[in-house]
Amino acid sequence: MMAMASKGGILLVIGVAIASVLASGAPPVQPPRIPADLVVMGFVPCNNGTSMRTGSAPGFAGAVVQLRCTDAAADLAANATADGKGRFRMAVNTTVALSSVAGHCELVVGTPLASCNATLPASGTLRSGLRLLVSIVFFPRGFSYVAPSA
Ligand SMILES: *[C@@H]1O[C@H](CO)[C@@H](O)[C@H](O)[C@H]1NC(C)=O
Ligand SMILES: *[C@@H]1O[C@H](CO)[C@@H](O)[C@H](O)[C@H]1NC(C)=O
Ligand SMILES: *[C@@H]1O[C@H](CO)[C@@H](O)[C@H](O)[C@H]1NC(C)=O
Ligand SMILES: *[C@@H]1O[C@H](CO)[C@@H](O)[C@H](O)[C@H]1NC(C)=O
Repeated sequence: MMAMASKGGILLVIGVAIASVLASGAPPVQPPRIPADLVVMGFVPCNNGTSMRTGSAPGFAGAVVQLRCTDAAADLAANATADGKGRFRMAVNTTVALSSVAGHCELVVGTPLASCNATLPASGTLRSGLRLLVSIVFFPRGFSYVAPSA
């Protein structure tokens, strides 16, 4: 119960931190309202560039974002679908240590880029590592297009 109370108490801090991160013209992202051990939230760009951040392209509406983890974080998995502006949020209860998440997890978008822009590739994935924003909240480092391997 103490752990839960402290998680509730930091929601305001998280909101303020996110507001300041996004103060540079990024689309607003709602702070998480559901209690969870881990929150991953961010923006999926509709583009096939590298290290893409918020604002580098239109949002990828309806992109299915998978959280994939290995090794120490292998028990962690989650999916989320981006909204109409390409924003997504996933909240997970997990026993995996937060300290192992950034090093062992990545975000993978398998939804074809051609579904948001017909001139973009119909195969391949968008992938991004994670960085800890604050407390329990992780952001994508920046999505990059990965062409199919075969
Ligand atoms: C995490 O667990 C808490 C306490 O059991 C619960 O209230 C909350 O809804 C759970 N969150 C998710 C995302 O499953
Ligand atoms: C996420 O979606 C993929 C592909 O649809 C599925 O294989 C996987 O089981 C899902 N994972 C979770 C945690 O829902
Ligand atoms: C679709 O992608 C092409 C190639 O990257 C780009 O030039 C064009 O502006 C994009 N269209 C939209 C609506 O974003
Ligand atoms: C991105 O997509 C465009 C249009 O399909 C293609 O010409 C370009 O080579 C792609 N770039 C990469 C890095 O795959």
